[in-house]
Amino acid sequence: MVRLSVAAVLFGAAALAQATKAIPAIVPGAYIVEYEDGHDAAAFLSSIEGEASLRRDLRFKLFKGASIQFKDVEKAEDMAAKVAAMPTIKQMWPVKRYSVPQHTVHSTGNGIHDVLARRQSAGNDAFTPHLMTQVNKLRDAGITGAGIKIAIIDTGTDYLHPALGGCFGPGCLVSYGSDLVGDFFNGTNTAQPDPDPLDNCNGHGTHVAGIIAAQANNPYGIIGAAQGATLGSYRVFGCTGDAGNDILIAAYNMAYEDGSDIITCSVGGASGWTEDAWAVAVSRIVENGVPCLVSAGNDGSKGLFYSSTAANGKRVTAIASADNTLSPALLSNATFTVNGGAQQSFGFTAGDPAAWANVTLPLWAVSFNTSDPANGCAPYPASTPDLSGYIVLVRRGTCTFVEKVTNAVAKGAKYIMLYNNVDGTASVEANVQGAEAIAMVAADQGAAFISLLEAGSKVVVSMADAATAPKFLVNLNNTLSPGFLSNYTSWGPTYEVDVKPQFASPGGMILSTYPRALGAYAVLSGTSMACPLAAAVYALIVNVRGTKDPKTIENLLSATANPNVFHDGNTASPLLAPVPQQGGGLIQAYDAAYATTLLSVSSLSFNDTDHFNPVQNFTISNEGRTAVTYSLAHMRAATGYTFSNDSTGVPAAFPNEIIDSPAKLSFVPSGNFTLAAGQRRIVTVTAVAPTDLDAKRLPVYSGYVSINGSDGSSLSLPYLGVAGSMHAATVLRPSGTLLSHSMDDNRPVPVAANTTFVLPPAGHVNDTAYFNKTDLPKLAMSLVMGSALVRVDVVPVSNCSTAAINATTVLGTETLGQPPTYPSTYNPRDQLSFEWDGRLADGSYVPPGVYKFAVKALRIFGDPDRVEDYDADETVPFKIRYSSLSRRGVSRTGR
Ligand SMILES: *[C@@H]1O[C@H](CO)[C@@H](O)[C@H](O)[C@H]1NC(C)=O
Ligand SMILES: *[C@@H]1O[C@H](CO)[C@@H](O)[C@H](O)[C@H]1NC(C)=O
Ligand SMILES: *[C@@H]1O[C@H](CO)[C@@H](O)[C@H](O)[C@H]1NC(C)=O
Ligand SMILES: *[C@@H]1O[C@H](CO)[C@@H](O)[C@H](O)[C@H]1NC(C)=O
Ligand SMILES: *[C@@H]1O[C@H](CO)[C@@H](O)[C@H](O)[C@H]1NC(C)=O
Ligand SMILES: *[C@@H]1O[C@H](CO)[C@@H](O)[C@H](O)[C@H]1NC(C)=O
Ligand SMILES: *[C@@H]1O[C@H](CO)[C@@H](O)[C@H](O)[C@H]1NC(C)=O
Ligand SMILES: *[C@@H]1O[C@H](CO)[C@@H](O)[C@H](O)[C@H]1NC(C)=O
Ligand SMILES: *[C@@H]1O[C@H](CO)[C@@H](O)[C@H](O)[C@H]1NC(C)=O
Repeated sequence: MVRLSVAAVLFGAAALAQATKAIPAIVPGAYIVEYEDGHDAAAFLSSIEGEASLRRDLRFKLFKGASIQFKDVEKAEDMAAKVAAMPTIKQMWPVKRYSVPQHTVHSTGNGIHDVLARRQSAGNDAFTPHLMTQVNKLRDAGITGAGIKIAIIDTGTDYLHPALGGCFGPGCLVSYGSDLVGDFFNGTNTAQPDPDPLDNCNGHGTHVAGIIAAQANNPYGIIGAAQGATLGSYRVFGCTGDAGNDILIAAYNMAYEDGSDIITCSVGGASGWTEDAWAVAVSRIVENGVPCLVSAGNDGSKGLFYSSTAANGKRVTAIASADNTLSPALLSNATFTVNGGAQQSFGFTAGDPAAWANVTLPLWAVSFNTSDPANGCAPYPASTPDLSGYIVLVRRGTCTFVEKVTNAVAKGAKYIMLYNNVDGTASVEANVQGAEAIAMVAADQGAAFISLLEAGSKVVVSMADAATAPKFLVNLNNTLSPGFLSNYTSWGPTYEVDVKPQFASPGGMILSTYPRALGAYAVLSGTSMACPLAAAVYALIVNVRGTKDPKTIENLLSATANPNVFHDGNTASPLLAPVPQQGGGLIQAYDAAYATTLLSVSSLSFNDTDHFNPVQNFTISNEGRTAVTYSLAHMRAATGYTFSNDSTGVPAAFPNEIIDSPAKLSFVPSGNFTLAAGQRRIVTVTAVAPTDLDAKRLPVYSGYVSINGSDGSSLSLPYLGVAGSMHAATVLRPSGTLLSHSMDDNRPVPVAANTTFVLPPAGHVNDTAYFNKTDLPKLAMSLVMGSALVRVDVVPVSNCSTAAINATTVLGTETLGQPPTYPSTYNPRDQLSFEWDGRLADGSYVPPGVYKFAVKALRIFGDPDRVEDYDADETVPFKIRYSSLSRRGVSRTGR
């Protein structure tokens, strides 16, 4: 998972780092076009023949277009501009790559032959993600999503897994779908579609499928939340790598046209903008009556305003993650004896190295103190025996695993067993010379071993090869964060203050199916695991209510969800977690399915101070059979500061500061009111934003309108607003624009003014036959908030050069043009960088001379034609000249 450390690196002093996986990359020279209505695709395609090839035909009912690949990538942007200007083209976007959100694999099984645990008895759903969301109450009432078609857009599904039906096609659990890409697709090479969406190499989609529809014939009590539903599987990833947004758009439209009732997708990339191509395509499907749920993303570490696309699209339902109340683990089975007595079994998680096969040795402990915070961190005392004949038991904590293992190995140990200091176990790595195998056991198992050793018993442990030993399921209580929002769940709102996410579902520590080839079962964490459960809940609600209207179901689930208090990863706060983290809260399927009071919206956004929209209406409808008296009240949630209270000017990483400074809400009608059966009425909400806040730090306030009915109904409508100006927020980090040598990639140092770069001859930058080492000027910029438009102008400095002759003035800056991929649209907040070989977006090369880069990042809600609406910065001047082809290159290639 993307972690705090990544944010620290991204915005750290070095100000340069590799883009994290969450940031979508652009596929060079590839574009998605959408045709104007009534235009003929064939005519368009023949008009670009020779210059571009068709990546994918995107002619669907709701999206008529194509993705194309320009053959001459160097000239692509110039040609793209011409294509965009064609009367047949309505819109055009670059092709971007998206990945499966970085989820955590906690443990996996050892294949479908694991049958050590008891099967789940039918009719008694005790699966904790279901207990948390009332799915068990619907299942116990016989509601299973029967007859509902749920499409999953993911890595495919191992439908041959017995718990996933064992077959593909009509009549099977996975009854429709296809593979859009093939095993070897990685996001950049050519897709090889085929009709078979089998997942036997990735796992993500198979885990998602089991959450929705795993059948009861599995050893671990896994139950799909909508076992009666039919699944469609659209495979958009190969075994590794990314999917393009053109492929995602195709998959969505195929799923729509194949008659899916619900579409779920646990894929995304950092964005914050609803205008991205993929988000636009998904919004359109929702408008046409099919609910689309997308995981909110696993970038909670980045703090506020880090929503992911397509989850952040208009009308798209973004699903946040809460942690399971249990911490299930699939552990390898080993045995031990005490003083030569009977064999007893215990579970362990192998680490790396893991040569545990046939290891039978007595245990030896560093100390008997099971609360030692730094156990085994210091070199062992001189009195320590030779440990080569033992398995050394050490408690986790304080120092690194490598340090613990190193200290044990120094006394001859080859085998080290760590016991945990938090819930569960983990697979840890400590490759230390001399260590043959490491493993971890749970804290309680460690404590049990220690008390035996302390009592003077001889404990002999027989380990096993984790790759072949049977696994068994251990359900430990999650004592740290049961039911709380997962610390990795991504925060909204969007940069245009749309409410994201919509609501939460359990996604942390979820046991589900996995490809047979990868162990058949696995415990994973991520919003990827939360989204499919919510999709299954949609199916149950469709069964009960007979409507799949996306707005109706979203409104119901949001209003009946349970908001939870904020949890910073260690402790719970008394304040409700901000709406931009949890939306409506944890979904409650039964309450939503049977609610008779309906609200006309799922949330309210009061926008920011510049666009403050304080008076808003929503409708309450009593669809029950009796009159109900309603009382309205305001429930405040924590206000979160976007920026930290220091001089860094960058958004605070999780756990970002939260404070108790709520808005004030008033309602019309102001008192209780009664609605007869079938009646509805408008409620007007007026908000007064909190005023005691530091507006420059962009505080996001939020809370709920609670609506309690005399029939016992208890609803809550989430709202949020920004107590500051989005437009006033700096987007381009001051002094974060840096010109360096591309060769200094790891430790970029700003270059001195007028440094000379000798560039390869035009067109030869990738020509390794001529240049095995090139040194290019590298520009890095740091966006501390998203920007819908980033320009980089190449400004001629030296008058000796002929370049100035071709310059034009744009937004007050003299420019020869922009480098390839600029201007860049709808940027998330992150690092942008490129290495420059002198080429401009139109494919031409600037002449040798002295230049500087002028960077302009459009502020949020800014007008792209007003220079005052940009944050600007520029580099020092630098000289470029082009080298000539080297003799060595000439002779080598014979050219
Ligand atoms: C994708 O695979 C192709 C070979 O098929 C390879 O050339 C390319 O580098 C790979 N791209 C990524 C991002 O791994
Ligand atoms: C989130 O929780 C996990 C598991 O407890 C922990 O390892 C991680 O450091 C936490 N991350 C943050 C950003 O608090
Ligand atoms: C672990 O293995 C032992 C020895 O083979 C066996 O007796 C025991 O049932 C297994 N434990 C579990 C929990 O399945
Ligand atoms: C472990 O012992 C078994 C049975 O004696 C043997 O077949 C196997 O090769 C051994 N494995 C290793 C890694 O030594
Ligand atoms: C887990 O929590 C439940 C409910 O609080 C409790 O009854 C049970 O004893 C706990 N189990 C363990 C292993 O701590
Ligand atoms: C906030 O106001 C801006 C400017 O009018 C608008 O573009 C944006 O959509 C508004 N946001 C919401 C959530 O209404
Ligand atoms: C809210 O509803 C009232 C009628 O109850 C209407 O007069 C008013 O214009 C509405 N306000 C908005 C912002 O829609
Ligand atoms: C409104 O209803 C609530 C809950 O039913 C009740 O506690 C409260 O006293 C009522 N208020 C008035 C003014 O009647
Ligand atoms: C860099 O070169 C430009 C143009 O040749 C000149 O005007 C400027 O003074 C130089 N700057 C430095 C710091 O040498």
